[in-house]
Amino acid sequence: MIRAARLLGSSTVYIGHMLTIDLSGKRALVAGVADDAGFGFAIAKALAESGASVSVGTWPPALNIFVNLLERGKMDESRRLSSGDLLTFEKIYPLDAVYDRLDEIPEELRTSKRYKDVGDCSINGVAERLVADFGDRPLDIVVHSLANGPEVKKPLLEVSRAGYLGAVSASAYSLVSMVQRFAPLLRDGGSFLSLTYMASERVIPGYGGGMSSAKAALESDTRTLAFEAGRKFGCRVNTISAGPLASRAASAIGIIEKMVEYVSHNAPLTDRLTAAEVGRVAAFLSSPLASGITGNTVYVDKGYHAMGMAVPTL
Ligand SMILES: NC(=O)c1ccc[n+]([C@@H]2O[C@H](COP(=O)([O-])OP(=O)(O)OC[C@H]3O[C@@H](n4cnc5c(N)ncnc54)[C@H](O)[C@@H]3O)[C@@H](O)[C@H]2O)c1
Repeated sequence: MIRAARLLGSSTVYIGHMLTIDLSGKRALVAGVADDAGFGFAIAKALAESGASVSVGTWPPALNIFVNLLERGKMDESRRLSSGDLLTFEKIYPLDAVYDRLDEIPEELRTSKRYKDVGDCSINGVAERLVADFGDRPLDIVVHSLANGPEVKKPLLEVSRAGYLGAVSASAYSLVSMVQRFAPLLRDGGSFLSLTYMASERVIPGYGGGMSSAKAALESDTRTLAFEAGRKFGCRVNTISAGPLASRAASAIGIIEKMVEYVSHNAPLTDRLTAAEVGRVAAFLSSPLASGITGNTVYVDKGYHAMGMAVPTL
């Protein structure tokens, strides 16, 4: 028997005797939220819709603008939950995922305008703050929704060693470091989730700078970390391979609109992927309903990955 139903975007979540994504009492950290346009924000919102309390990790160069937008009500529309309440973040932690410890942040950066007042924004610093704020095992869900490739506009054939290693450091090693430092902080049934892109396995012209290599590493690491952290901490590690979305990061690639259009022309489902669709899958994968899923790359791309030939234009 169904006791009650409420609308969540285009889908209905049943409350009562039917399956629900129930994250009440759980705490999530979503790393890589600095506006309301990307996957991280949509995931944070879906986790909150499911009852989790959500903190975010925000890159110091984007922190002030993000906090200003929030405080001036510029995101109120996108923050609106189905209950009518506004999505609120339990904490906003400054996070630069290129650094594992405070002493690795170069002096020049640490004392620069955007970093001098944020304290320890390394991954270890965020872990310590979480423990100071909420106690020894403060987390259930960690989402890695960040990437950076300093030379993303350059084809791999022209990328410097520093550009390549920078992409892998920010976009792939950051997950390894987060699992190292956050897995001991997870309560039973904990889950890690990251975001990847199919440029890891198929050539996407224009997705340069070693970002394709970083995503390949991220997917491979998802499998190895699932085994190692699964055995050691009992947690799960998955990644969502999302279709193209015109987020702020993707717009930096320069060809995102073409990528979105191409996928909508050639994918099995021709409506454009929304961030909310990825958010809902992320909430499921982070929930006890997905307790049997780990080490997986889950495609949320309107089925585009299944295609082997472009659809001819009539
Ligand atoms: N947009 C797409 O088409 C697409 C497709 C598949 C996968 N993804 C992946 O989704 C994830 C989220 O990206 P998005 O497209 O939603 O864009 P986004 O701009 O919303 O998110 C990227 C975030 O990474 C942050 N960031 C960059 N460098 C950082 C650092 N050193 N430390 C901490 N944070 C840092 C940025 O401030 C930003 O908030 C990324 O991993 C991206 O590769 C995106």
